[in-house]
Amino acid sequence: MDNIFIIKKEATIKDAMGCINKSGKRSAFIVDNENKFIGLVTDGDIRRAFLSGSNLLDPVIKISNLSPFTVKNDILENDYLKIMRDNKIHELPVVDNKGILNNVIFLSDLQGITLSKPDITRKEFDAVMEVLNSSILSIGPKIKEFERKIAEYTNSKYAIAVNSGTSALHLCIRSLDIKDGDEVITTPFSFIASANCALFERAKPVFVDIDPDTLCMDASKIEEKITKKTKAILPVHIFGHPCDMDVILEIAKKHNLAVIEDACEALGTEYKGKKVGSLGDCGVFAFYPNKQITTSEGGIILTNNKKIAELCQSMRNQGRDEGEGWLNHKRLGFNYRMGELNAALGSVQIDRIEEILEKREKIAQSYNEKLKNIEGIITPYIGPEVKMSWFVYVIRLDNKLFSKNNRDKIIKKLLEKGISCKNYFPPIHLESFYKDMFNYKKGDFPVTEAASDSTIALPFYNNLEEKDIKYIIDNLKQIIK
Ligand SMILES: Cc1ncc(COP(=O)(O)O)c(C=O)c1O
Repeated sequence: MDNIFIIKKEATIKDAMGCINKSGKRSAFIVDNENKFIGLVTDGDIRRAFLSGSNLLDPVIKISNLSPFTVKNDILENDYLKIMRDNKIHELPVVDNKGILNNVIFLSDLQGITLSKPDITRKEFDAVMEVLNSSILSIGPKIKEFERKIAEYTNSKYAIAVNSGTSALHLCIRSLDIKDGDEVITTPFSFIASANCALFERAKPVFVDIDPDTLCMDASKIEEKITKKTKAILPVHIFGHPCDMDVILEIAKKHNLAVIEDACEALGTEYKGKKVGSLGDCGVFAFYPNKQITTSEGGIILTNNKKIAELCQSMRNQGRDEGEGWLNHKRLGFNYRMGELNAALGSVQIDRIEEILEKREKIAQSYNEKLKNIEGIITPYIGPEVKMSWFVYVIRLDNKLFSKNNRDKIIKKLLEKGISCKNYFPPIHLESFYKDMFNYKKGDFPVTEAASDSTIALPFYNNLEEKDIKYIIDNLKQIIK
């Protein structure tokens, strides 16, 4: 057992502080000369002791908890997390029958490596605090600042910030007057909101299968799905990889269809040197905490079309037109506004976008390098003339070597090792309510289904450490063996 968080019972408060400082934990654990566990002292105990007049050289034992919660070393490791959660403790001393301290379990170690994590610095804290201090928490300067920055970054004329990517998609659908009976061509391999947004207005999402490499909608299969009812094409730049926009835009032009880009996962992605999200009639980004930048919850609509911009501005704000009074409602609207705290957070994050994308690129490259020669694992494909903005890092298992069942077992085993991972994405057409509404069945979109059965999204975030990547890959290799 590591001794860095242990002190002897004769230790002083100063010794305990040194121990806590060195270990980086919240407590020091006290043992006698035979290593019998006596108690623990937390950084909070030390603070309180000073406040009530203790000195650095006072014996630590006087201010310690001498009857802390402990467990015996015959408890199963799998139970540690539950015991700690139930008892609301962060550190669990494990002792043997003679009371000797065998181990200390730290909650932070058990929680493992998360799938995603936002990258929040002092600047974000300060920006949010500034808004709180200003008392302008909604419809203030920060939303305008955030919109201006995103519009500039994507080279778009208008940017309308809202409270989620889903709301952004919904407003795009409404602003294009897509309604009951209309059809929207999209992909079944996506997060469900990209298809649901058509259903919100009783329009039908019509699916086109995906390209097996890019996992984006296969543009060569779009035209066969166009009918008299088709109003729009809604491509999704999945996992940050762009769709084949030249082909999609050409088909849209030929058939007089609108294009709504779902770029929720692709802020910063470039297709032939142009940023996605600004290539169609309108495009959207999302800012949930797993995205490249976050506003906690949030989304934004981009467009160069004044009419679409004005409709979206009005509909996010209860149908009020710009400059109208609070109780004047020109059309049916929603409260989809982004708050000032969210916009302030986003404004700092977009200032950091280059640094963020670089960090993500480095992590993706590290994964690529370490995974490249492992049989059965396919690393993410990147097409020509593409600059990826990495949303997630998704590997695929070779369908010839691994069944869906194998993939699910691998995910389960990784989770047991404290490595978060997910099957991004299950096919939308096989969600039960889609099957009920449209009679979809297995086999309808075989490329999507094969991809869905084989993907594993691995932990991926800006500050994922090399040692964690190594731990993930070592375990993955071991498990797939
Ligand atoms: C492709 C895609 N579309 C839409 C959304 C919806 O965004 P939000 O969760 O902000 O509503 C997401 C979010 O994950 C997404 O990945």
